[in-house]
Amino acid sequence: MRRYLVAGNWKMNGSRQANAALVEKTVAGLARCSDVEVLVCPPAVYLESVGQAVRGTPVRLGAQNLSDRDAPGAFTGEVHGAMLREMQCEYVIVGHSERRALYGETDEVVARKFRAAQSLGLTPILCVGETLAQREANETEAVLERQLEAVVQLCEVAALARAVVAYEPVWAIGTGRTATPQQAQEAHAFLRAQVASRDARIAAALRVLYGGSVNSGNAAALFAGPDVDGGLIGGASLKADEFLSICAAAQAQVTR
Ligand code: 13P
Repeated sequence: MRRYLVAGNWKMNGSRQANAALVEKTVAGLARCSDVEVLVCPPAVYLESVGQAVRGTPVRLGAQNLSDRDAPGAFTGEVHGAMLREMQCEYVIVGHSERRALYGETDEVVARKFRAAQSLGLTPILCVGETLAQREANETEAVLERQLEAVVQLCEVAALARAVVAYEPVWAIGTGRTATPQQAQEAHAFLRAQVASRDARIAAALRVLYGGSVNSGNAAALFAGPDVDGGLIGGASLKADEFLSICAAAQAQVTR
């Protein structure tokens, strides 16, 4: 059975009140999606309260970022992976394009965050993806290869057995301009082939999520791709009905 994962990345959105309502509605509607793994990634300050709200439910908890430092200490504003573990996080997003573009995270920093996450038992969700200019210059595969390779170099390919990859074309994030199912499938197949060239077994089991303007209307077609194992959902994860429809689209693939 395919192990679909649908992850909501709330980005810098939410409030105590809005989160409580969103989680309550999401949990209540998930009974119909029992074969899909569902994850929410709230801002760090809300991890504790959202963690309490999802405890005992099928919804898992993830963080959006973590420090690349080995040990806690004098790093103002940073959050160490051990703190995320204490908040019951199981997953953490690393290398989101907003972190890369707006906060200067290089491939090397992202690889260190990936390693830091795994060293603490967190499952990293490694985001990779090209900009529009890179796609138009035919550089998509080179960009994906470089971003993935930085992690493989630092952590070895075996580390991908305990990770998730998310293909998020930058031009599709928050723009309403989704990759076509074919574009997504091609990129996912390329990423899986990159891993397979080193270890076929790890590649076959690797979950590759698609992210970028996924909504209730396009999720089914995207998730039908043989190399698309779920989604990393931004804007639509803030609306319970939309998010639940996306989870249901993944569930429909499993039971098809
Ligand atoms: P949108 O779904 O809002 O396009 O965001 C995608 C994303 O960046 C998820 O991490």
